[in-house]
Amino acid sequence: MPKSIAIIRTVSDLRDQVATWKKQGYRVGLVPTMGALHTGHLSLVETLKSHADKIIVSIFVNPTQFAAHEDLDTYPRTEAEDCAKLSRIGADLAYIPSAAEIYPAGFASTLHIGGPSHGLESAARPHFFDGVAIVVHKLFQQTQADTAIFGEKDYQQLLVIKKMVRDLDVPISIVSGAIIREADGLAMSSRNAYLTDENRIIAGRLNGILTRLANSDLPAPQAEAEAEAALREAGFTAVDYATIRDAETLALPDMTTKARRALIVARIGDIRLLDNMPAK
Ligand code: PAF
Repeated sequence: MPKSIAIIRTVSDLRDQVATWKKQGYRVGLVPTMGALHTGHLSLVETLKSHADKIIVSIFVNPTQFAAHEDLDTYPRTEAEDCAKLSRIGADLAYIPSAAEIYPAGFASTLHIGGPSHGLESAARPHFFDGVAIVVHKLFQQTQADTAIFGEKDYQQLLVIKKMVRDLDVPISIVSGAIIREADGLAMSSRNAYLTDENRIIAGRLNGILTRLANSDLPAPQAEAEAEAALREAGFTAVDYATIRDAETLALPDMTTKARRALIVARIGDIRLLDNMPAK
């Protein structure tokens, strides 16, 4: 039986533990999550092990990144299962703060990161990156981690966090984690649990359409229009975007673009599915 993972719920206990590790010369890594852990999260833990000696996994369903109509109340909360998975994989600490530990009474601050936060996810979820930025900045401050990892599945989020660290001189190094996929290519996500059997089949078609977009020889507007038509044909009920962008800034590619990224967000009813990959 693996040893049960230690759980800490307050900033002061967290600070004590991290100070002890740092005195012992350990490099501390953070994997920020909202719980409902799947193989994708566990692979982030595994990847970060080669960048840090001690791994903290935070589990906090962050209210400020949900709009009023979104799934904050129904978002899957599976603490016992999450901790069992983290124990098996050998993470060192689960940090599971209450809402008051992150947002104490009277909390009145916001954090807006510009640049890559413009457009794409922000068009559908204007509140989202401000909520992510404030909670991630707080988690960095609270844990004092030396390094943290974010999955490429939320590619725009990864770029926003990197921008925050650069613009605000946060002393932490950011590692990116590869997208982990199901056998049919569907990117793993806690929200995949919402899919019915029928919708799961439709969802499995997303990655093939993204792969064609990323490798298309057509001019970008034409390739994007084809991807959008293919998504509708495949059963997606709405397409938020199917686009090729500059991989570093998420602006439309131009002569200065060094690398391109294909990104798709498509919906089945009110479930939004995200995927992305490097483009030609
Ligand atoms: O990607 C997520 O799960 C969340 O946006 C994060 C980074 C844990 C912030 O709440």
